Amino acid sequence: MTREELKAAARAMLDRAYCPYSRFPVGAALECEDGTVYTGCNVENAAYPAGICAERNAIFHAVAEGHTRLRRIVIAGKSADFCVPCGVCRQVMREFSADLEIVCLNGAGEEKTFTLEDLLPHGFGPDFLSDN
Ligand code: THU
Repeated sequence: MTREELKAAARAMLDRAYCPYSRFPVGAALECEDGTVYTGCNVENAAYPAGICAERNAIFHAVAEGHTRLRRIVIAGKSADFCVPCGVCRQVMREFSADLEIVCLNGAGEEKTFTLEDLLPHGFGPDFLSDN
């Protein structure tokens, strides 16, 4: 899938977002190292903490299907501000990639690209535990 196709897949997931409480839809499309793509959207719940972000939804979907090496994720929002991943999602990303490319899209279709190292410098990951 091309970068533009991955962006389109993330935007398409905005329509699947279940966000009756925040009314803040988010879509994500994740490309694994072998090129496989998984998508996700935010799914909220009446018991608020039970909800999940679009990024983690996509990542857990990939892991559940056997993919633990990630290359790129596109995160689409509808607001003027770029939808950057929350701290919990950044930590979950670190588990499966130290140098993930993170493409954030705003509602105007503009993009801003980060590395995970930009967003989670000196992050703690599984490599820290490999000596044990
Ligand atoms: N949300 C995401 O899905 N991804 C982000 O990067 C930021 C926030 C969701 C969580 C919640 O459903 C809604 O957006 C408002 O915080």
